[in-house]
Amino acid sequence: MDAEQSLSGGNGAPILVTGGAGFIGSNFVLEWLAGGKGPLVSLDKLTYAGNPENLTTVEKDRDYTFVHGDICDAALVKELFERHRPRAVVHFAAESHVDRSILGPEAFLRTNIDGTFTLLQAARVYLDSLGAEDRAGFRFLHVSTDEVYGTLEPEDPAFHEETPYAPNSPYAASKAASDHLVRAWVHTYGLPAIITNCSNNYGPYQFPEKLIPLMIANARKGKPLPVYGDGQQVRDWLYVADHCRALMAVLERGRVGETYNVGGGNQRSNLEVVTTLCSLLDELLPQSEFGPHKQLIKYVADRPGHDRRYAIDARKLEGELGWRAQESFETGLRKTVEWYLAHAAWVENVTSGAYQHWVTQNYGGRETADTTAGSAR
Ligand code: NAD
Ligand code: DAU
Repeated sequence: MDAEQSLSGGNGAPILVTGGAGFIGSNFVLEWLAGGKGPLVSLDKLTYAGNPENLTTVEKDRDYTFVHGDICDAALVKELFERHRPRAVVHFAAESHVDRSILGPEAFLRTNIDGTFTLLQAARVYLDSLGAEDRAGFRFLHVSTDEVYGTLEPEDPAFHEETPYAPNSPYAASKAASDHLVRAWVHTYGLPAIITNCSNNYGPYQFPEKLIPLMIANARKGKPLPVYGDGQQVRDWLYVADHCRALMAVLERGRVGETYNVGGGNQRSNLEVVTTLCSLLDELLPQSEFGPHKQLIKYVADRPGHDRRYAIDARKLEGELGWRAQESFETGLRKTVEWYLAHAAWVENVTSGAYQHWVTQNYGGRETADTTAGSAR
């Protein structure tokens, strides 16, 4: 059996997904199960960012198993490998929000570094228990970020796989550290791992602390739309389903020990993103008392150490694995706004109150989607 057969469900073994109740993880789990790609075990701690409500449609799917737990729990992780004998790990679990990493870096170091270390160690021991065929087919896919590369000047070429690491935020540093651990486990122990570094995702189930869902949620309620600094920072946006499709291609056909950059070629300044969202909301909510929504834009204090520009060169992924983004920024953003407008209750349910206090202090009265709701858990 070759690696591709092994990873397309041939031996009936599940894949183990970490962080499957978060934004990208949920989208991946739903897409995986809808595609009949085989059994999937999801390990998630259900932090403020993890929401089982995202997965109610698959709760009863025979191919779906949910485990509530922490990737830092070595005994649990070991037991999961032994019990489920996965053919691959797709590692999403992380603390993911840059502003939160500035407020409190500890959880980022713990989950993103110690958690990845715990998984790598367990995978290594497990791998030793496998026969040659299963060992050859096993994959550890580490889902990472373009933020490990630092920041670009306007004239710089996009990040490519050889761009030196230069992480600037506590979040980025913790992800860079985890990438280095994965690399070392490949090099030293022969762990068949692959790393992906992706640009900014957007789409359904993203927690309304990140730019796009926060702006939609605030605009809907007539609250200020807080733009950090001059709003000219650039991000390279990718619709989440396109990221999930890229991960599946890498899992099935990616080369062990390689890194693949993932991005949609959609560089936009934050101000452009926010004004485009405002226009979409004007169109989709013609009766809104808060339109034109652009009037809600409010410039607030800049993020400390704010990276100016990210851009991804995805030619390796496109050339080797034939992946292409299917959504343009315009089609993806419209779908996203429509999804959030149709899921207002989801936004209400997930908003955390504790974090609000810190953002109010640090961003001069910035308001999150709901300043009164407590954490969902
Ligand atoms: P998210 O914050 O929405 O979800 C993270 C998930 O991990 C949650 O379900 C949470 O409960 C879970 N989790 C956190 N700590 C855990 C722990 N100790 N044990 C088990 N589960 C834990 O994150 P996301 O935006 O979906 O990002 C997923 C991954 O993709 C992360 O590794 C992130 O670095 C990476 N990434 C994200 C983006 C983006 O734009 N969101 C872009 C590139 C890469
Ligand atoms: O590049 C990939 C990364 O993208 C992922 O690794 C991270 O997990 C993900 O959170 C995201 O990081 P960013 O910091 O780029 O995303 P965020 O949505 O927080 O911010 C996007 C841009 O918008 C950034 O330049 C900061 C700005 N911003 C953000 C918020 C929340 C604002 O101007 N106002 C805001 O209220």
